[in-house]
Amino acid sequence: PSLPPEVFHWLPIIGSAVQYGNDPLNFFFKCQEKYGDVFTFILFGRRVTVALGPKGNNFILGGKSTVFNAEDAYTHLTTPIFGKDVVYDVPNEKFMEQKRFVKVGLSTDNLRAYVGMIEEEVDEFLKIDPSFRVYQTNDINEWGTFDVIMALQEITILTASRTLQGKEVREGLNKTFAHLYSDLDGGFTPLNFLFPNLPLESYRKRDRAHQKISQFYIEIIQKRREGGEDHEHDMIAALMQQTYRNGEHLKDHEIAHIMIALLMAGQHTSSATGSWLLLHIANNPDVAEALYQEQVKFFSTPDGKLRSPTYEELRQLPLMDAVIRETLRMHPPIHSIMRYVRDDVPIPGTLSAPSKDTTYVVPKGHYVLASPAVSQMDPKVWKDTSKWDPYRWADPEGMAARAFDTYADESGEKIDYGFGAVSKGTESPYQPFGAGKHRCIGEQFAYLQLGTIVATVIRRMEMRIEKVPEHNYHTMITMPKKPRIISYRRRNF
Ligand code: HEM
Repeated sequence: PSLPPEVFHWLPIIGSAVQYGNDPLNFFFKCQEKYGDVFTFILFGRRVTVALGPKGNNFILGGKSTVFNAEDAYTHLTTPIFGKDVVYDVPNEKFMEQKRFVKVGLSTDNLRAYVGMIEEEVDEFLKIDPSFRVYQTNDINEWGTFDVIMALQEITILTASRTLQGKEVREGLNKTFAHLYSDLDGGFTPLNFLFPNLPLESYRKRDRAHQKISQFYIEIIQKRREGGEDHEHDMIAALMQQTYRNGEHLKDHEIAHIMIALLMAGQHTSSATGSWLLLHIANNPDVAEALYQEQVKFFSTPDGKLRSPTYEELRQLPLMDAVIRETLRMHPPIHSIMRYVRDDVPIPGTLSAPSKDTTYVVPKGHYVLASPAVSQMDPKVWKDTSKWDPYRWADPEGMAARAFDTYADESGEKIDYGFGAVSKGTESPYQPFGAGKHRCIGEQFAYLQLGTIVATVIRRMEMRIEKVPEHNYHTMITMPKKPRIISYRRRNF
């Protein structure tokens, strides 16, 4: 067996860091042309083996979690932020139990309760003007502007804290929590991924913020335990009731750290996706009008108003669904999914082989990288791949993929990802939420949050933007580059 081809580079240790860091998709497409679906590049001394296409996605995301290991790849980034004893700071079996606890908190019952809350928060946000740069105009004929990222970051944290995170966190947002969150977030950058510990102020701020936020959650838990208040629909309440297989309850600091992990997991992914959504809608007035008409068709009341959707109704709006789906196709927030290789692994010949008689091997000590973003933009898979076209999903072929998605993990236990989940198993060109054992469990929540935000915004205002910005890959999550200023005008609502 031999090693996969290595991407040519001039600089020893640094390798292809610059090309990869500036535009990973372009880098992957170019390498794919030259070397095929499997190749290794150097990233600051690490050897990263990339496997592209649906088969590449399957090879990495469907691989055994003990061999393609997520903890080893992510812990130095995530543990200082989330804290000890959760997620990638524990063996995978324990994290899988924690993931199951989170699923309980994301029950359909809870999600149902969230629609109204999210709607209220968005409405409230749209009424305030000020520092968030949503310039309110009272005259409905007057156009105002807003920075879409600023607005969506704010709306995302307001709605997530009002629903999942719970009352105390939502109240804290008006006080100190927002600042602490921002310091913590300053520790979630590619620099932190590459260099776990640098003597920089941002690293110290991250550590201080972690301490304080962790304490903040622990106090919430302790107060709740003493008082008898009812918080039945939020995540802290759900986690407080769970027990590990060995009969132990979660410790207070574990609940606190899981809450921080969820806050981080949902914040950037949803706010980036929400921003891309509004940018494309603003850039496509026809789609915007069709989305508005969809709201009118489903939710008009006899007195000419629009009533609130229910969770189930929201999930059955064909155009809204297609608009979110298509946005995640072109702008999946996570462009690189990484694992650390703990043992030599042969690469299937169907994916890549030097000749009929030999296979490639990914050796122990490499990292592997899957990028569903590449297969989601592959011109061999998608017609007019660079065109944002939500109507492509109305194609019977596209719709056929909309099945219930279940994935049996290695213990044989099935995790049901519910309706809406597109990808089946781990071999699919479309995987914005990943696949396999580490697949996202926030998909239903994200669709609910984004769907409600878009519905509320679209009912309230018209938006315009000349051009959808390019990708900025210098943040952990793929963001739109500046300028990203949307013009808007209130609807006569
Ligand atoms: C995992 C994407 C929202 C919680 C993942 C993964 C992806 C992803 C690609 C797989 C990572 C890997 O395999 O290394 C997204 C997108 C979102 C989103 C595109 C929104 C548009 C959320 C939300 C939550 C969440 C709202 C929480 C409420 C998680 C968790 C995991 C995960 C717990 C599991 C990590 C693991 O098992 O290693 N997500 N996510 N995500 N996500 Fe999300």
